[in-house]
Amino acid sequence: MGYRQFKSKLARVIYDDEVVDADCEKLFHCDWHKANSACALVERGKAVMFKYREWELVFKQYHRGGLAGRLVEKSYLYSRLPNTRVWREFNMLRAMRELGLPVPRPVAARCVSLPPLAYRGALITERVPDSRTLTQVLCDRPVDNAQWSKLGALIARFHQKNVYHADLNASNILLTGSGDFYLIDFDKGSIRNSLSRQDADANVARLRRSLDKLQKRHSEFHFSEDNWQALESAYRAAVAD
Ligand SMILES: Nc1ncnc2c1ncn2[C@@H]1O[C@H](COP(=O)(O)OP(=O)(O)O)[C@@H](O)[C@H]1O
Ligand SMILES: [Mg+2]
Repeated sequence: MGYRQFKSKLARVIYDDEVVDADCEKLFHCDWHKANSACALVERGKAVMFKYREWELVFKQYHRGGLAGRLVEKSYLYSRLPNTRVWREFNMLRAMRELGLPVPRPVAARCVSLPPLAYRGALITERVPDSRTLTQVLCDRPVDNAQWSKLGALIARFHQKNVYHADLNASNILLTGSGDFYLIDFDKGSIRNSLSRQDADANVARLRRSLDKLQKRHSEFHFSEDNWQALESAYRAAVAD
């Protein structure tokens, strides 16, 4: 029981055998989604929510990536697999869950080689039940300061575990109906040996910019300086511990 890997002609797949089986490659095909998910329209580059057996899952495709370097090896994808964006995100999610951090459960990842030197990856995670992005919530209603503090302390927990989130914006934070936060979208993120204060602060500053931008864009967006102070002071208190 656990994570298994296999290769097909042009692809490599890793999957959690407690959720899906060795035939899970079908879940990476648009045709399967068109035939089986309620959401018939599978837009390019957009996450697709779907149900598979008793599981609620999310499928996301990465933009086509290029492998750096000039060496054309037969096994180029295999040897560079650990460095592909999709494999890195999958493994980061695994590692963060082992650290007890609230992130979605990674279910499967697939990387297809597009010879000579490109590849395309896709990731399936478990959908966080009863959740909306912080962006969606704030367009709808305010979040009280106790919750903003909780979010600040949570971001600090990730930083204490040396997790760097490359794009910590309000759409990459989920809030559940019972008031729990999850961080998602670790594309281009990393778990460092030691996260510098500068990089940690850059994550927090990125979130602030995203909230300010949303506030300008939406006529009704429930975010105030007071909310930010609650987040920031809880963050500072938690990292000082
Ligand atoms: N595990 C998940 N549970 C619930 N919603 C998710 C999950 N993963 C992604 N989403 C939703 O899909 C959106 C896009 O996913 P994300 O991983 O942020 O990819 P990207 O921003 O690169 O398109 C998120 O903003 C969120 O609304
Ligand atoms: Mg995102």
